[in-house]
Amino acid sequence: MILPSSSLLFTLTILLCSFLSFVCANRLIQQTCKNCSKNDPNISYKFCVTSFQSDHRSHYAKNLQELGLISIKITRHNVTDTNAHINELLKKNKSLDPFIKECLDDCVEVYSDTISTFREAIRDYKAKRYADCNVKLSSIIDASTTCEDGFKQKNYAISPLTKRNKDTFQLSAIALSIVNMLINTDK
Ligand SMILES: *[C@@H]1O[C@H](CO)[C@@H](O)[C@H](O)[C@H]1NC(C)=O
Ligand SMILES: *[C@@H]1O[C@H](CO)[C@@H](O)[C@H](O)[C@H]1NC(C)=O
Ligand SMILES: *[C@@H]1O[C@H](CO)[C@@H](O)[C@H](O)[C@H]1NC(C)=O
Ligand SMILES: *[C@@H]1O[C@H](CO)[C@@H](O)[C@H](O)[C@H]1NC(C)=O
Repeated sequence: MILPSSSLLFTLTILLCSFLSFVCANRLIQQTCKNCSKNDPNISYKFCVTSFQSDHRSHYAKNLQELGLISIKITRHNVTDTNAHINELLKKNKSLDPFIKECLDDCVEVYSDTISTFREAIRDYKAKRYADCNVKLSSIIDASTTCEDGFKQKNYAISPLTKRNKDTFQLSAIALSIVNMLINTDK
C-alpha cells in the first residue's frame, strides 16, 4: 500500500519527534545522574542510569522536575515490591529462625509506614515544597538502613534483604539528590 504523501510526512514527523525526545531524555538522565553521583558519593552513576533507563516513563522526561517525580515513583514501586517479598518470606518459610522472623517483622513495619510517607512526599513534590519532600525522602532512606541494621544485632544472622535494602537506599538517595538540586535552583 502506498501512503498518501501527507500522512507519510506526518508519520515521519512523529518518528523524528519521538527519536529526538528519546535522545534528549537520555541526555537528561546522564546529566542528572552525573550530578547526583557528584553531589552524593553514595550514588553510583551506573546504578542511577540503569534504574532510569529500565523505566519507560524516564524516556519521555522533558526536564529535571519530571525526572524527579519519576525517581520517587520508581522508588515507591521498588519498596512496594520489597514489602510484598518480605511478607512472602514470612508466609512461606515455616522454619524461620525466631530472631530472623523478628527482624523481618520489623522490616515489614518500617516499610509499610513508607506507604503514607511516599504519598506525602509526592504531594509535597508536586506543590514544590521541596524542603518538606526532602524530610520524607530522608525517612525512606532511614527505613532501608533500619531494616538492614536489625539483622546486624546477632553475629550469626544473615540478612536475606541486603540487595533490596541497598537498592532502596540508592533509589531514595537519587530522588533526594534531585530534590536538593531543585531546592538550590529555586533559590
Ligand atoms: C548538572 O550540573 C551542571 C553544573 O552544575 C548544570 O549546569 C546542569 O544544568 C545540571 N544538569 C541537571 C540535569 O541538573
Ligand atoms: C552516605 O551514606 C552514609 C551511610 O548511610 C551516610 O551517613 C551519609 O550521610 C551519606 N552521604 C550523603 C552525602 O548523603
Ligand atoms: C528495584 O530496583 C533495582 C535497582 O534498580 C532493580 O534491579 C529491581 O529490578 C527493582 N525491582 C522492581 C520490582 O522494580
Ligand atoms: C528459612 O529460613 C532459614 C533461616 O531462618 C533459612 O536457613 C532457610 O534457607 C529458609 N528456607 C527457605 C525455603 O527460604
